[in-house]
This record gives sequence, structure tokens and C-alpha cells, in this order.
Amino acid sequence: MKEKLQGQGRILVVDDDRPLLEALVDALESMGYEVRGESSPAKGLALVGAWAPDVAIVDQKMPQMDGLELTASIRQICPELPVIMLTGFGTIQDAVRAMRASVYDYLTKPFDLAEVELTLHRALEHRRQLQRYKFLAEATSRGAENQWLLGDDPKMRAIRESIQAVAGTDSTVLVTGESGTGKELVAKAVHTAGPRREKPFMVVDCAAIPDTLLESELFGHAKGAFTGAHQAKTGYFEAVADGTLFLDEIGEIPLPLQSKLLRVLEEKTFVRVGDTRRRLVEARIVAATNRDLAREVEEGRFRKDLYYRLHVIELHLPPLRERSNDVPQLVDHYLKQLNRKLNRRTAEVSPAAMELLRSYSWPGNVRELVHLLEHILTFHHPQALAPIHLPSHLHHRGKATLPRVTYAELKDELLEEAGREYFIALLEHYGGNVTLVAKHSGLNRRHIHRLLFKWGLDPSEFRG
Ligand SMILES: Nc1ncnc2c1ncn2[C@@H]1O[C@H](COP(=O)(O)OP(=O)(O)OP(=O)(O)O)[C@@H](O)[C@H]1O
Ligand SMILES: [Mg+2]
Repeated sequence: MKEKLQGQGRILVVDDDRPLLEALVDALESMGYEVRGESSPAKGLALVGAWAPDVAIVDQKMPQMDGLELTASIRQICPELPVIMLTGFGTIQDAVRAMRASVYDYLTKPFDLAEVELTLHRALEHRRQLQRYKFLAEATSRGAENQWLLGDDPKMRAIRESIQAVAGTDSTVLVTGESGTGKELVAKAVHTAGPRREKPFMVVDCAAIPDTLLESELFGHAKGAFTGAHQAKTGYFEAVADGTLFLDEIGEIPLPLQSKLLRVLEEKTFVRVGDTRRRLVEARIVAATNRDLAREVEEGRFRKDLYYRLHVIELHLPPLRERSNDVPQLVDHYLKQLNRKLNRRTAEVSPAAMELLRSYSWPGNVRELVHLLEHILTFHHPQALAPIHLPSHLHHRGKATLPRVTYAELKDELLEEAGREYFIALLEHYGGNVTLVAKHSGLNRRHIHRLLFKWGLDPSEFRG
């Protein structure tokens, strides 16, 4: 089988003028493109689906079907395919019509080869952009927010330094760590700290894609490569181009695909499923897993050679319980962010509550912490976050750590917080009517006014 290495692109030319067609095909081939020429519009159209060109050049005047009709039919099969129209000299009127019919560009005959090359170059770039946007729209719908990697723990400092060190290289990076420790954040940081920052960053969640589809999602497929492959398809390796491809949950890749991936990483080329054309891998690869890959290798679930290939540079994220002194910093940061997002005004965390947060074991790591804060701010809106707002599993600590408050302090704090919440609920219910609040609570009005003053609560704000 003849394999061809071409990063340039596939061009389909349709023109009924055979000598001209052959001349153009030759010229384009010598420019390094992969070219197919057809003198029949119907056959050309069939190739759009079957051969998946990157750009089509079509003649405007053909007896069976004119160029505009052909363009319209091409659009139906492949809306993103840029079409360049060949027009006779002086038919500018037609050229304008052609542009309106969503033709990408036009070339007038007789053409200047430099102009042909320039137009093709732009069309290919346009096509690439379109594919990129399509993928990016999917990839960014995962709510990728720009976020900095927090933590003063020496291990986190070391991670940040390593990110800076590897960002400028093209080396494959393996990010490991338990679930929710920030692997995706690190992958993103490797991308944004390096020269590819303006290029796409795409995430492939290998665990979320069924085994049978994973290969074609990664590498794309040719039309008819398997049942159901009605159209040729671009894969992630192609769409990400020279950006960064983040292979998340790489430990979930089935063994046969592991071999293929190894070859791709070593040879820096890949082939679409069912295709013969070799394409260059231009992307930087970052992989992540929460599995212990060394153990997976021992137990025969992960290829040893792929493991070695991936773990040349490994960034290992510590679980949050091993850096519990970072908890206050994370809490402060996410509290601010969530206040903005949920329109809340929880200004602080009481010392007792912070102690519970700090000493909890966080099996779900930073993600669990963020979710917990979001839950609290959604369902309560305390001025200060106190132990009563925390779920019971944070109170029942496994291995008790030393609390930093006295019993009296703890009791006062709990009572203060609970009391404040209690009266807010009553004020809300009774629309700020202190007489009714007094009746309900069993305290007299003077006492209530004193408490409300201390807490900075104004009954009139609860009216209406
Ligand atoms: N060091 C950190 N500083 C700030 N936020 C962090 C940090 N680590 C993790 N996070 C936040 O925690 C959440 C989970 O992080 P991320 O998705 O990167 O984890 P993960 O390791 O990929 O998890 P999983 O294995 O479950 O996919 C995100 O909201 C992320 O912003
Ligand atoms: Mg992740």
C-alpha cells in the first residue's frame, strides 16, 4: 500500500475542459497537494462524500450541471467544504453571483499559478478554522473557566515550577492524582504557560467515549470505514492541529488502542480509521489518569511501553488531605467566586467551621470542597459560614485533629450562628414584623432588637 505523508490537504477539481483539468491537477500536485480531478460534476459530487476533500475547485460553466448548482449540492453534503469557482475572464457579474451563493472565492481563467496557490492556502486555512471552531464549541461547553492553581504547600509550589519548566517544551506530560486534585487545571496550565497558548486546547475524556468509537474520535475515519460511517470524519488529533490535546482518563483506553496510540506518539503520525493517508501529529499531548498506572501495568491492564512513553514527565498532584493547610486559601478563593456567581454575601468562615473544613479528609479533593461551598451558598446564605452549615460527615471526623477553640467558644459560636439564621428566617416569614417574631420566638421585643442590632440586621429590610 502506498502511504503518503501530506500535511497540505486534499483538493478536488471539477472541470469539463479536460486539457485544462489535467494541467490544473498537475500544477496542484507539484505544489504538494493530494489532488483528484473529475470532468463530470456528478462524479465530482460523489467524491465529496467518498474522498472527503478539504477544498473543491469547480468550473462555473459545465454542460450537465453548472458550477453554482454543483456548489449548492456540495453544500448539502458538506457545509464546511470551501468551494472555489473557476470563471471565464470578464464574467465578474457571475462572480458576484457566485460569491452570494456561498462560494468561498473565485479564480478567473486563464489563471496565474501563484494566485491559485494563495487562494488555496487561504481556503485551507479557512476550512481548518471552521473545523477547529466546531470542536472548540464542544470542548469548551464543559465550562472551562480560567482558573489559577492555588496552594502554598511545597508540593504545589513544586508543581507550579514544573509547569513553567515543561510549558516551553513539546514533551508529552502525564498528570496523575486522585479524582478532583486539579489534573485538568494542570493540563490547561501547561498549555497556557507555553507558546501554544493562542492555539486550541481540547479535552478528550477517554472514559466517556465508548471503546468502539474512541479510535475514530481520536484519529477520525474515512467514509465507509465501518457500518454507520456515512461520512468521513475529522478526529481530535487532526482538529486540535498545533494546539494541546488533553487525553483525560488515559488509563481507561482499551489495550488494542493503547498499541495504536503508542505508535502515534512514537512516529508522530496517524491515519484515519479505514484510510491510507498518513497525517502529521502537530499537537502537544498531555495525558491524565487517576489510576495507579504502575499497578495497572503490573496487572496487565496497561501497556508497559506506553506507560514509559507517557511518564517521561510526570506531574503528581497530592490529595487535599496531605496539604490541609491549603484549605483556608482554597475556601477564601472559592467563597469569593461563588458569592459573585450566586449573588451571595457570605463574607467569612468562622474559625470553628474552618477547622472542620481543614481537618476533613476530602476523598473528592478540591472538587468536593468547591461543590460543598456551592451547595451551602445555594441553600443557606449565611453572613458567616459556621459549623451548623456543614454536613454531618464533616463533624464526624475519622482521625480527630486538635480543635483550636475552647468549648465555650465553640458553643457561643454555634449559638450565635444558629440564632442569627433563626431570626432571619422569622423576619423573612413575618415580613419584618418584630411583634410577631417576638411572639414566635418567646423573647421580648427589646431583647430581639438588641440581637438584631448586634448582627447588623434591620427589620425594615424584610418588609414587602
Ligand atoms: N490547586 C487548585 N487551585 C484551585 N482550584 C483547584 C485546584 N485544584 C483543583 N481545583 C478545582 O477543583 C475542581 C476539580 O479540578 P479538576 O477538574 O482539574 O480535577 P481532576 O483532577 O481533573 O479531577 P477528575 O480526576 O475527577 O477528573 C475544579 O473546579 C478546579 O478548578
Ligand atoms: Mg479531570
